Amino acid sequence: MNVDFDALTLAELRRRRSAKWTAFPPDVLPAWIAEMDVLLDAPIRDALLAAIESGDTGYANARDVAPAFARFAASWFGWTVDPARVLVSPDVLAALAATLGVVSSPGAKIIVNSPVYPPFYRVIGEVARTVDNVPLRHDADGWSLHFGALERAFAGGAAAYVLCSPHNPLGTVWDDGDLARVAELARHYGVTVIADEIHAPLTAAGERHTPFLTIAERVGLGDAVALWSASKSWNLAGLKCALMVAGSEAMRRRLRAIPLDVPYGHLGVLATVTAFEQGEPWLRALCVHLDRNRRLLRDLLAERLPAIGYEPPQAGYLAWLDCSALGLEDQPVDVFLERGRVALSRGRDFGTEGAACVRLNFGTTAPILTEVVERMQRALG
Ligand SMILES: Cc1ncc(COP(=O)(O)O)c(C=O)c1O
Repeated sequence: MNVDFDALTLAELRRRRSAKWTAFPPDVLPAWIAEMDVLLDAPIRDALLAAIESGDTGYANARDVAPAFARFAASWFGWTVDPARVLVSPDVLAALAATLGVVSSPGAKIIVNSPVYPPFYRVIGEVARTVDNVPLRHDADGWSLHFGALERAFAGGAAAYVLCSPHNPLGTVWDDGDLARVAELARHYGVTVIADEIHAPLTAAGERHTPFLTIAERVGLGDAVALWSASKSWNLAGLKCALMVAGSEAMRRRLRAIPLDVPYGHLGVLATVTAFEQGEPWLRALCVHLDRNRRLLRDLLAERLPAIGYEPPQAGYLAWLDCSALGLEDQPVDVFLERGRVALSRGRDFGTEGAACVRLNFGTTAPILTEVVERMQRALG
């Protein structure tokens, strides 16, 4: 499929009213929140337009989501999903809150791995659970799970583990050995694993994401839930539709107890079903574009900002940039915003180890990505 992902202009994007394009003054170039600067895949656009033109804007009917997801999971990952194990939710964070509500009690310890997607901390607090942070390890080989610390946290009575797979903000794709070790430890200590796989379809060339539930099943871990959405891969975050996949029949029964008082949206359901049923050619083309941008960002940084540390992510369109060698006194995100007029995500929000880092969203056109880095360079110049 031939899609020109570089065709959108800044003038067109500035007319958008989404969070990314309205949170800052118009002279700021936004590269922060995880939404992409792309046009919709044509079948999704057509499904939404048809609904709007025919006044089909009533309450959602989510019946088709589970079979559409099962079809996609089989085709993209070779993962056999029983549609009966799929529940629909408005978004992944609502699904996380709801899942925590049924797999743990107030005050329970919930493990996360910093630096990690900041709303995890917030959601765990909002449902009155306690964050049990097990920081990731970083060395010359990159980022890894700290299994010793993880086992101590499991043994210390944690109720659940929110595994970000692939990881946001690092883009790490966990390998099968890591996932199997997580599943074995979780089974041994009676910890529920909640695998957030929202970025999973967006792997870089040569990388392979393994759905956590395929490993959990092999290891005999039933207390597992995968959180899913088409929202990152097809840029549908504003439409509100996500999924929970139960790792066992017992877990399905527990998830069925979730009160669905925040319902998913009808347009989100239509877009999601269309994405899972017809969106693979576009998704393949998007992955090629993101591969190009990963390399472009590497080259731009090497040429213009060589002091910034960048390990190209194995998945997704978010880059974690280590700015500690820049010697900035303020947080780098403030320097880039105030002096360069470019908005990135604040590394500190992902965990204390992120204080000298920023997260950059490269899910945009090559010219805009180039300008993002030029503005960063100007901020330091
Ligand atoms: C790891 C991760 N989980 C969840 C979300 C949010 O998903 P939703 O908008 O479906 O709540 C994001 C958004 O960037 C994310 O990166």
